[in-house]
Amino acid sequence: MTHPTAPTAAQADAFATDVYGGLTQSPQKTLPSKYLYDAVGSALFEVITHLPEYGLTRADERLIKAHAQDVLIRLGPVSTLVELGSGSGRKTRWVLEACALRQPCTYYPIEISATALAHCSRELSDIVGVKVLGIEREYLPGLQEVAAMRQGESPMLVLFLGSTIGNFARPDAQRFLCEVRKLMRPGDALLLGTDLVKPLQPLIKAYDDALGVTAAFNLNLLVRINHDLGANFDISQFQHEARFNPETSAIEMHIRSRIRQSVDIPGAGLTIGFEAGETIWTEISRKYLAPDVLAMSAQAGFTSADQWIDEDWPFAETLLVAA
Ligand code: TRP
Repeated sequence: MTHPTAPTAAQADAFATDVYGGLTQSPQKTLPSKYLYDAVGSALFEVITHLPEYGLTRADERLIKAHAQDVLIRLGPVSTLVELGSGSGRKTRWVLEACALRQPCTYYPIEISATALAHCSRELSDIVGVKVLGIEREYLPGLQEVAAMRQGESPMLVLFLGSTIGNFARPDAQRFLCEVRKLMRPGDALLLGTDLVKPLQPLIKAYDDALGVTAAFNLNLLVRINHDLGANFDISQFQHEARFNPETSAIEMHIRSRIRQSVDIPGAGLTIGFEAGETIWTEISRKYLAPDVLAMSAQAGFTSADQWIDEDWPFAETLLVAA
């Protein structure tokens, strides 16, 4: 495992291509949200998970803490645990401890952020009976790698927490679940966290906090383009915006240009103009109804074993078994 501080040539190339493609899109400019998570972005996101307005992570952790034992009772001994997008690994501790009580296991966090991966390996390396093997790849190639090297007959448990599935548009989420299912054997399980529909006021604040941490997280994307592609974005001339789209039941994150301006991005071979008020769309965070999670999972070839819901911050943890 390597922890590069500078992007490799291939990574810089992919970033340049994606920035070019996203910013030349018309009428709505976009940038892929995966680029939010560089070293600075991952650190800022970790702060977001502690903010009073962002109840999502605490709800997720409460449910996991309360039901980790139930998950393992349901599945029996598990030797292979995989997590798609591990972040800091804080929530995962409860599942790993419940798992290691029964038999030694290997935990594979799959992350595109080397910083987050290093943090999570450190955080979880003290649990007796758990071997941590970080995989620095995107979700599906990473899961494929684990599926190819898993050993023994006991089921694999895949964790997809934090409502990361909400960061996919609806059809993409469905497709993604189908792809995950194809890499699993019957009897393997998926523990899926989804943020649920809730009143507008707390929801918007969760994505536009008083301290401006989420704003910094979002705008860091422009800082990264300046750094990696030699661009000249004047960050003070852009602002963070979170809106709710009732049609898709999703929070949408944008970066709004305060003025009419032009920006050079030499690393992407691009000079791009912005109208005053024009936005770059950077992320969506879909909010589900609990029964929709079950319907979508059934479509992908899972049966639901259990679903737990947090009452304080509506959030669902769904245990799905590959049929
Ligand atoms: N998975 C997180 C979510 O959908 C990601 C997230 C939280 C996020 N806050 C953000 C993404 C702000 C972009 C901007 O809640």
